[in-house]
This record gives sequence, C-alpha cells and structure tokens, in this order.
Amino acid sequence: MTDQLAIREIADDDIAETIALWNAAGVARPWNDPARDIAFARRDDHSTVLVGVEDGRIVASAMVGEDGHRGWVYYVAIALERQRSGFGHIMMQAAEDWLIKRGVWKVQLLVRADNAKAARFYEQLGYRDTQSVCLQKILEV
Ligand SMILES: CC(C)(COP(=O)(O)OP(=O)(O)OC[C@H]1O[C@@H](n2cnc3c(N)ncnc32)[C@H](O)[C@@H]1OP(=O)(O)O)[C@@H](O)C(=O)NCCC(=O)NCCS
Repeated sequence: MTDQLAIREIADDDIAETIALWNAAGVARPWNDPARDIAFARRDDHSTVLVGVEDGRIVASAMVGEDGHRGWVYYVAIALERQRSGFGHIMMQAAEDWLIKRGVWKVQLLVRADNAKAARFYEQLGYRDTQSVCLQKILEV
C-alpha cells in the first residue's frame, strides 16, 4: 500500500495539479483562494502542503502546520477513484509525523457539519469531537 504512494512537500510545478485535486475532491471553497492558501502555507517552516504521488500523478494531499500552540491539518483530499485505498490514512500519518518531528503534541482539524463521511474517517483514526464551536472573522491585511 505505502509502496504505491510517494509523499513529499509540494513543489512549484505541483500547484495546478494539487488545486485540480482539491476541486475534484470537494475541499476547495469559492471563498478561499487555493493558490493563496498554498503560497501562505509555504511561506516559512511552520507549515507545508504534503502531496502523495502515484505513477507520477498527485492523488493525495494534506496541508499541515503548527501555530505555536497546536498542530492543524487542512485540505486532506484523495482522488475520487483512489478513495478507500488507505491513502487518506497514509496522508494523515505523514501529517502527524511532520508535527511529531517538531514536538507538537496535539493536532486538530475542522470538519464541515455536513461531511459525515470525513467525520467517520477521522474518528476511525482516533480523532474526537471537542464539542467546540469554530468562530471566524476576516481580517483586512
Ligand atoms: C475523507 C477522505 C480523505 C478519506 O480518505 P480515504 O483514502 O478514502 O480513506 P482511507 O482509505 O484511508 O480510509 C481509512 C478508513 O477510514 C474510514 N473511512 C474512509 N472513508 C469512509 C467513508 N466514506 N465512510 C465511512 N468510513 C470511511 C474507514 O474505516 C476506512 O477504512 P476501510 O476502508 O478499511 O473501511 C477521502 O474520502 C476524501 O478525500 N474525501 C473528500 C474530501 C474530504 O471530505 N476531505 C476531508 C475534509 S475535512
């Protein structure tokens, strides 16, 4: 299983293909600019985007980073035709390893309330609902 998927940090040439994966998998949102999100995750060593490559094609991704307090994972996406092949599990393990290497001991992520499929996936990996509400505000930068 792991032999099929090579995991590495995203490179400049991977960006368009990664955004296409996000669109196909349904993790891209019209109000988020994916290219901006990728550039921001790559701006320093607090975060990155990991991609999973199979037969030269990007079929998996996970954005991972730490904010000085907790680890966070975003944009976990597997190509539609490769879902339920264990790739999601492998990408989450790679994201957790990235955090563990940096001494981060708690990781969290956001799951949209209507994404029961993803919630079951994360629960199976040991993630639990913190019974918190996520509040957000857009800042002018
Ligand atoms: C959610 C997602 C990342 C899971 O990745 P995946 O590669 O399909 O998952 P895996 O094959 O590693 O599954 C591991 C286990 O998680 C659970 N799981 C995965 N998908 C599931 C589903 N649709 N329903 C119930 N359980 C599921 C199962 O226990 C599975 O093990 P099994 O296949 O042996 O039963 C993938 O389906 C995806 O990209 N979905 C669309 C984008 C998305 O919703 N991302 C999450 C945003 S928060």
